[in-house]
Amino acid sequence: MQIKLNINGSDKTLDVKPHEFLVEVLRENGYLGVKKGCETGNCGLCTILIDDKPVLSCSYLAVRAEGKKITTIEGVQAEAAEVGSFLVEEGVDQCGYCSPGLVMTIIGMKKEIENPTEDDIRNYLTNNLCRCTGYVGQLRAIKKLMGVE
Ligand code: FES
Ligand code: FES
Repeated sequence: MQIKLNINGSDKTLDVKPHEFLVEVLRENGYLGVKKGCETGNCGLCTILIDDKPVLSCSYLAVRAEGKKITTIEGVQAEAAEVGSFLVEEGVDQCGYCSPGLVMTIIGMKKEIENPTEDDIRNYLTNNLCRCTGYVGQLRAIKKLMGVE
C-alpha cells in the first residue's frame, strides 16, 4: 500500500507494508539518521518528530504516518548541531549511543514548551535511555540551551 506524508519539508509517497514500523521505512528510503536500537520502545534511539512531537519510530506503524509531518535529524541539522554543542559542553557525550534520539527529543521539547520547569524536562526525557550518565549533565545542558534558571 502507499502512504502520502511530508518528510523534512518534502511531500513523499512511500510504499509500505501493513506490518512495517516507521523506523524501517524511513531507513529504507535513505533517512539513515534515524537509528535503530532496542526496537522494543525502550531506548529512545529511534526518536523522530511526528507533527513536531517526539515519537519512537520503532513502535509506530508506518501506515499511521499517512498525512503526517515527519521530521528526522536530517531535516534539523542546524538545530541538532546547536543542541549537540550544549550537550558536549556539559560532558554528556560519553559513548554517544543515546545522542541521536536525545537530540530529537530536545528539539521537540523546544518546539512545544517555551520555559520548561525541571519536571517538564525530566518528563520529556523519560523515553530516552542513557546508560552512561545520570542525566545530570543532560539537565544542565538543556537548562542552559533553553535559558532555564
Ligand atoms: S529503537 Fe526505538 S525505542 Fe529503542
Ligand atoms: S552517553 Fe552512553 S548511553 Fe548516553
